[in-house]
Amino acid sequence: MKLHHVLEAQQFDRATLSHLFDVTQKMEHVVAQGGVNTYHNRIMAALFYEPSTRTRFSFETAMHRLGGRVISTENAGEFSSAAKGETLEDTIRILNGYADVIVLRHHEIGAARRAASVSRVPIINAGDGPGQHPTQALLDLYTIRKEMGKIDGLKIAMVGDLAQGRTVRSLAYLLSRYQGVKMFFVAPPLLKMREDILEHLREHGVEFVEETALEPVLPQVDVVYQTRIQRERFGDRLADYEMCRGIYVLTHEALRRLPAHAMIMHPLPRLDEIAMEVDDDPRAAYFRQAQNGLYVRMALLSLVLGAPSSATADGS
Ligand code: CP
Repeated sequence: MKLHHVLEAQQFDRATLSHLFDVTQKMEHVVAQGGVNTYHNRIMAALFYEPSTRTRFSFETAMHRLGGRVISTENAGEFSSAAKGETLEDTIRILNGYADVIVLRHHEIGAARRAASVSRVPIINAGDGPGQHPTQALLDLYTIRKEMGKIDGLKIAMVGDLAQGRTVRSLAYLLSRYQGVKMFFVAPPLLKMREDILEHLREHGVEFVEETALEPVLPQVDVVYQTRIQRERFGDRLADYEMCRGIYVLTHEALRRLPAHAMIMHPLPRLDEIAMEVDDDPRAAYFRQAQNGLYVRMALLSLVLGAPSSATADGS
């Protein structure tokens, strides 16, 4: 199987997800053995117009662990010719002459699709404003499957900034591929899940409920997916931000209501919405989740670059 652009979660059907996760499992072994040299003649461009720790470093590490090379800008708005007024489209056209794959994070919804419209080489959407973050959702789903042993039939609470959170939007699309999944969207009215996602779930017969209180939801779910209230998405609506911040906080005390078998996820970074005391709880999966991002992104790069998915630790 070969992928080309990775733009949105809807492009992944169950068969593709299953194959991706098989390759991802192999990548865990590749990393354990130090990596491969399979892509020694390939170059990945990381073009980031928004800040990132996990996504950029894990993509760059993924390419290095696969033997490839990386060119990168972590603040493209300032450190690329975007600062002189160059369009995204022209930047992508130029990078097509240098790189074999472009990983793009941008502040505008639809930026990855615009980039793909002028790109011969694969574009991977590493987050387009409050639009989507498909590779995050893929690693989220991989983590759920790895830790819970299945996805069908799970009850999953998504909590916090659902209106502006791109990870929850992409994850909702992916989860809608599975049978018997029920989603609990827990958010204040200002930050409730947007209607396009709810409409998609209705069309696909996926059960969901919308709640404003977290406490009564916790005993009912297998997965609680906490998110940050994103100050940077409020612009000058400071009063709205102040009204929403700190509204849902996972503490030891709150988590007494969560079943013992459940897992706690977060795309990170976190502020205070998961207390540090929770980190030692065996149900706290968020650091393992971030680690899985490396393996999933290695698998994605191998699929878009078209190399054999059976890459082994000796580079064959
Ligand atoms: N989860 C995530 O996208 O983190 P970064 O913003 O650090 O890449």
